[in-house]
Amino acid sequence: MMNRANSLVIVGAQWGDEGKGKVIDYLAANADVVARFQGGDNAGHTVVYGANIFKLHHIPSGILYPGCISLLGNGMVINPLVLVDELNKLEKRGISTANLRISGKAHLIMAYHQVYDQANEALLGENKIGTTGRGIGPAYADKALRRGLRAIDMTDIDCFRDRLAQVLPLQNRLLKDAYNYPGYDLEQLVELYRPACERLSPMVTDTSILLADQLSEGKKVLFEGAQGALLDIDHGTYPFVTSSSTVAGAAGPGSGLGPRSTARMLGVLKAYTTRVGEGPFPSEDEGETGDHLRDQGGEYGTTTGRPRRCGWFDAVIARYAARINGLTGLAITKLDVLSSLETINIAVAYECGGKTIKEFPLSMAELQLCKPVYEVFSGWDEDISRVGSITDLPGAAKLYLEAMEEMAGVPVELISVGPDRAQTIIKPRSYLAGWCGGG
Ligand code: GDP
Ligand code: IMO
Ligand code: MG
Repeated sequence: MMNRANSLVIVGAQWGDEGKGKVIDYLAANADVVARFQGGDNAGHTVVYGANIFKLHHIPSGILYPGCISLLGNGMVINPLVLVDELNKLEKRGISTANLRISGKAHLIMAYHQVYDQANEALLGENKIGTTGRGIGPAYADKALRRGLRAIDMTDIDCFRDRLAQVLPLQNRLLKDAYNYPGYDLEQLVELYRPACERLSPMVTDTSILLADQLSEGKKVLFEGAQGALLDIDHGTYPFVTSSSTVAGAAGPGSGLGPRSTARMLGVLKAYTTRVGEGPFPSEDEGETGDHLRDQGGEYGTTTGRPRRCGWFDAVIARYAARINGLTGLAITKLDVLSSLETINIAVAYECGGKTIKEFPLSMAELQLCKPVYEVFSGWDEDISRVGSITDLPGAAKLYLEAMEEMAGVPVELISVGPDRAQTIIKPRSYLAGWCGGG
């Protein structure tokens, strides 16, 4: 029997880069499987322990535990060349990738997808999305247009060639006519991918069966979200979003399980807000505060190195993310970054055209005009990066956390006070305390 308490979905609840990698790595110490269910190598998840820093793009943040199965679900788009590079880099550092499994139904990001992505951005000019340029959107578009290649196609190079031969004439036509880009030669493309097909084939399997079996054996499964609620293709700040469903509900379809496979959804929220790429961001601070947060928080993109746009915590977004994900708990990261600020703001509502707005607006044109309404909180001077329990946090930090959970309407279960595994506080008697083996 599947025990729903044994699985947990972890998602970003802002615009990505909330610290999901850190939180998932921490919780993976007590997991048997970590499964990605959407996105591709646009993700950049950082895991730090001691002097070791790992930046993961496709590979789940459980890979550092040798006993943990890492799984790339069917909802993902995978760039085989980048994945092989990622595997090689981990192996070189002594990390075993023997437990990596790839869903045969996951779609492949092909060289031409990156060409489209970058050309689309150039054609959009000042209206560009600010994508990671990894070919994510075009790969998902081809999936929906039913002209994608899938991981299962890699397991037989003749099938790979046949499938490519079916779709390449159309791709070449588009590349040449619409993008003024030379097309690809079928055999050259097959040769480009052959080594990756050979390397990855043994990992390709029916991950839906594997996950269902693990859960029915009572094993513990973490579903690792990439990106964040406001980058969701439906619920995000469209069109400035990514091309997949980033919300917790996508864990089922993105991994081949039904909606009853889990009851727990943990939303990861940074103690302030950041975003990379274009699009509205009501609490953005382009002045001193934003610069301070960027410097203190090291806010530069893990995948592209771009400086992240920074601003105060936005409770309107937290409430919205709680609703669209059905969050049951919060992980608040980077609380340490706020130390030494005299006062800290939280956006509690927006003001637009003389109206006060408490819910995240439907219209992105309206969101663009929204100005944050702030509630001001006292800061704290203490360095909290070595604090190991909630009781030992400064009073002002505790009040700030309480305000965040009250405004989001979801209890805080984990607090992160630094990038390292060790810099993590679990709320006693919470679901996560149970997950970690405590009471
Ligand atoms: P993800 O995409 O959600 O996994 O987040 P990223 O890894 O892209 O960005 C988060 C960054 O913040 C990484 O450099 C982490 O090492 C770092 N980080 C995570 N949690 C904390 C924290 O509590 N405090 C500080 N100072 N850094 C953190
Ligand atoms: P993680 O998992 C932050 C953003 C891009 C761009 C938009 C579309 O590390 O949190 P895409 O390449 O997906 O078509 O770009 O989405 N974006 C992210 N921002 N963190 C991410 O992943 C992101 N993945 C995509 O910057 O605005
Ligand atoms: Mg990231």
